[in-house]
Amino acid sequence: MKEIELTELLNKMTLKEKIGQLSQIISEPYTSEDFEITGPLTELGIPQDLVPLAGSVLGASGAEANMTIQEQYLKQSRLKIPLIFMADIIHGYKTIFPIPLGIGSSWNTELAKLSARVSAVETAVSGLHVTFSPMVDLVRDPRWGRVMETTGEDKFLNERFAEAFVQGYQGEDYTDPYSIASCVKHFAGYGAPEGGRDYNTVNMSERQLREDYMSAYKAAVDSGTELVMTSFNTVDGIPSSGNRWLLHDVLREEWGFDGVVISDWGAVKELLPHGVAADEKEAARKAINATLDIEMMTFTYIKHLEELINEGSVSEQIMDDAVLRILRLKNKLGLFENPYRSADAEKEKELVFSEDHREKACKVAEESMVLLKNDAALPLNVEKQKIALIGPFSKGENMLGAWSWKGEPESASQLLDSLKDRLPAANLLYAKGSEINTTTEKLLTEAEVTASKADVIVLALGESADMSGEAASLTDIRLPNSQIELLKRLSKLDKPIVTVLFNGRPLDLNNIDKYSDAILEAWFPGSEGGSAISNILIGRTNPSGKLPMSFPENVGQIPVYYNHFSTGRPVETTPDKKYSSKYLDCSNYPKYAFGYGLSYTTFKYSDLTLSDNELKDDEALEVTVTVTNSGPVRGKEVVQLYVRDLIGEVVRPERELKGFEKITLDSGESTEVTFKLTRDMLSYVHSDLSVSADEGEFEVFAGGNSLVTGSKKFVIK
Ligand code: IFM
Repeated sequence: MKEIELTELLNKMTLKEKIGQLSQIISEPYTSEDFEITGPLTELGIPQDLVPLAGSVLGASGAEANMTIQEQYLKQSRLKIPLIFMADIIHGYKTIFPIPLGIGSSWNTELAKLSARVSAVETAVSGLHVTFSPMVDLVRDPRWGRVMETTGEDKFLNERFAEAFVQGYQGEDYTDPYSIASCVKHFAGYGAPEGGRDYNTVNMSERQLREDYMSAYKAAVDSGTELVMTSFNTVDGIPSSGNRWLLHDVLREEWGFDGVVISDWGAVKELLPHGVAADEKEAARKAINATLDIEMMTFTYIKHLEELINEGSVSEQIMDDAVLRILRLKNKLGLFENPYRSADAEKEKELVFSEDHREKACKVAEESMVLLKNDAALPLNVEKQKIALIGPFSKGENMLGAWSWKGEPESASQLLDSLKDRLPAANLLYAKGSEINTTTEKLLTEAEVTASKADVIVLALGESADMSGEAASLTDIRLPNSQIELLKRLSKLDKPIVTVLFNGRPLDLNNIDKYSDAILEAWFPGSEGGSAISNILIGRTNPSGKLPMSFPENVGQIPVYYNHFSTGRPVETTPDKKYSSKYLDCSNYPKYAFGYGLSYTTFKYSDLTLSDNELKDDEALEVTVTVTNSGPVRGKEVVQLYVRDLIGEVVRPERELKGFEKITLDSGESTEVTFKLTRDMLSYVHSDLSVSADEGEFEVFAGGNSLVTGSKKFVIK
């Protein structure tokens, strides 16, 4: 449809029809034989009159099911405006990829794009049009359960992943039937709730919000994301869903976003318990005036917008603009011409969870894993070593992780089965040892007896899938005692222990480290988890993941992140002084730093050089470093570039990631890696909120993690 036709359509719509477009409901009312029946609707609180008018549906899937819903809906629709189907396809539809924190650990944005593409294909043929992904909330607190859905603590890394995910989902354009629209979330600052408690207050200066927390949303917007979802939290005291400054002034006016803004589930009505709206009518007024287009699963718009418009406290124009944005999105996706879009039961059978998609999931999973420790225990020698696989994640546990809606945990490749496929039968022993949260003397003894017959113990430990994700915050981020008990008991056998971890957040790993000879962080690896882990354990694949988020020494250190400010009393320069910025009982540094991760080979960095000692206006400074694979096998390395602005107008972080590249080198091979630095890349938000780069001296570091030393300096005059 042409824009003019969309406007004509808008002009034909009644007020009620327009408001219907602004409401999103779940699929239940449509999945009954005749969706006009009232039974379930009453229970769900969905107003009866909204069902034939709602513009979009949340969480309906399956080609046939969605085609039926669409067909029935359109039959009774006066103007034949199709429904748009949306859902949370976060790290895969049915072929589940590692959790986003794992994908972030790959530092490989091409793989992120690939995972999003596969998700888009499976989603599109299953009759959906929009995914509520990517989530790009910057995080510094592993107590928050939703860290598993992010790509970590760094804005530069998050920006690159935000772009990759949006490009992967949306493709070039919607002439490609497998492209779906993406919805970046949760705007804004949702990743910084006080105390790591989900839905809690977010409180930070506008300068910090703009400097650290906004940029990944902006990167998604600049990459063309079609939708933005609001966050549950407050931004400077005003909940995002009623925050006109945030949604209108910043997102739309400043950033030029002209797509659809959707609330999070129930977030408009939450203006009441937040205490900024006296009733639903006021909540509706605040949200629509903030330019929030679609209200998800509460009904303040359908109940009160008409009245608000009639009395003049909401202009018809603001509502029309919102409706037009939704019609435009439907039009872009081609729904007016083909309301079923790519829903195709045959293709669904052929493509969803296909061999090809599973192979891709395996590849991504392998690169997502981070080798945290290796005292010569890995790789395993499958011919010579007898291996005892022990622990709750050996088989049968959910290794897909939270937000894997259509994924089937029981269809995921299990570690025990995958090792069986790769090892001579006589060389693999198994005992469970413990459940996730409990164990028994019997289980422990069985594990000890089994392990005593082996040369090496592989211990598969972790958090259950529901210990991270939404509404899954923790104050204690150590593994459950039952599993630590198992590890301690096995350590008494004096055999090498390789611990494989399944979890959705950085953990306090002190106990694990103390008793393990090697630690492989597998996150929740997805449908091909078992295969990917086995390939790494036996050395078929060399691990190459690097942490996108610091692992604290303990919970008391939180927040601990690499790009912190320098203080007036840095402990580094006065380590023995009482009055320096430090803890009495713990170092200032995390257990495992941002950017850290080991390989079965080693990499040496040399010859850091700059193309000039001055970064001139409109010119790029080239930073080159030589990387050599100095170890025994071929491997991948994430070469990282950090910069420190030595004297800023505002205090600057001790270092900031400004570039990264993942390279592959054969044993003995060297290569030069060159990064370009521009003035723009060194710009930041100043105290008056203007954005520019400081003049003065800068220090550049290049290496394999954020603690790299050895630097060169340049100036901006
Ligand atoms: O997309 C999600 C959001 O991230 C959390 N609340 C529910 C939404 C829809 O399922």
